[in-house]
Amino acid sequence: MAQEGDWQLDVLRELGQPDGLARPAEPPLRLVHPAPAPPADPRLGLAGAASGQHLDPPARPPSSAPDPRPAVRTPRDLRLPMPTPESVPTLDPRLSHALGSPQHGDSMARRTGRSIRKLTASAAQDVAEQTRIARELQQPVTTGRVIAVTSIRGGVGKSTVSALLGRTFNHYRHDPVLTLEADAALGTLPVRMGAESVRWSCADLAQILTPAMQLTDVTGYLVPVTDGGWLLPASQGHVGAPLDIRTYRTVTLALRRYFAVTVVDCECLPGEVARTAMDTAHARVVVAPTTAEGVNGTRLVLDWLAQLPHSALASTVVALTANSPDLILDGKAAAAHLRETGVTVVPLPYDRHLAGGGPIRTEMLGEDTRDATVRLAAEAMQRAVRVR
Ligand SMILES: Nc1ncnc2c1ncn2[C@@H]1O[C@H](COP(=O)(O)OP(=O)(O)OP(=O)(O)O)[C@@H](O)[C@H]1O
Ligand SMILES: [Mg+2]
Repeated sequence: MAQEGDWQLDVLRELGQPDGLARPAEPPLRLVHPAPAPPADPRLGLAGAASGQHLDPPARPPSSAPDPRPAVRTPRDLRLPMPTPESVPTLDPRLSHALGSPQHGDSMARRTGRSIRKLTASAAQDVAEQTRIARELQQPVTTGRVIAVTSIRGGVGKSTVSALLGRTFNHYRHDPVLTLEADAALGTLPVRMGAESVRWSCADLAQILTPAMQLTDVTGYLVPVTDGGWLLPASQGHVGAPLDIRTYRTVTLALRRYFAVTVVDCECLPGEVARTAMDTAHARVVVAPTTAEGVNGTRLVLDWLAQLPHSALASTVVALTANSPDLILDGKAAAAHLRETGVTVVPLPYDRHLAGGGPIRTEMLGEDTRDATVRLAAEAMQRAVRVR
């Protein structure tokens, strides 16, 4: 097996990132030191910065200087075992046009109050904590790590949490990050990640991927996310055959070769694919709504995880989400009930921007949401790298 550093360098070289220092253009979720002006991210150029243009060859620089990047073989150049599917918009254009301006997660008064407090408070402790978290998020990996996100019920925030985690890893890490949708039931992940259209799905890739492929071949089938990283949807947005365990295993195993971190947005438990994903992932995130029934059900899932081999519970984190501003269950009591199992619980606050639906824009998230997301990502990463 290749050495740890070589594995990552090889991948970065394929991407045309010799030093891997390209930064996403969007402001950081929580930068410890302000980054220098970001260079254009070659990963976006790889398949076109606009979402949904993932079949086009990379845009060449306008200068006459030779492009150091390897030529990308598009799916058209490869001998595919299937015809190229149509590109399908993730939202009906009439709905896209009807989308209003997204709300910021924090009210204007809150944002102003925070800025004033920041000017007066000592930031030393904050910086130390941020440095620690950034270090955890940037830990090197020897082989691709898979982090599965699931829940006991639908509609509690799995796709939202997956999108937040995918973006956070992508922001902090210099190696490739994939967010994979393993929920074929008309999932919302592509919309939440800002993809305008989708073409290739998990089931397609299960037939297409071969060990001889390079990263640049593989990314031709993925949706580039606007602020970096890639997305693989579960379906083309219509009701189709559900994802089966074999497809899931084939795709995740094959893609682990190319991506340092894969975040998997799973179906609900106890679905077969969700159970397989939970069992085979390096770390797990269970999303629990802050309701009595949600916390009660999640506790049962944690008890089930405690019985699985490979210390499944020790590599699990709970994201305790507040999907409504009018919760009646006490958040502290809910977290304490779940922590009795020994699991780490990260509360994810109610956020107006997330509640509004549509594409998630990192700069519109409330500050508490950003902090919680980064903490959740660091906790998951710490567990994922621990597993051999
Ligand atoms: N922290 C939050 N604050 C406010 N609203 C939230 C938060 N997290 C999730 N939501 C809202 O909860 C709803 C469900 O979220 P999401 O689609 O992510 O759930 P899901 O578990 O993936 O659902 P499904 O089971 O249908 O796939 C969405 O409308 C989302 O905007
Ligand atoms: Mg979902």
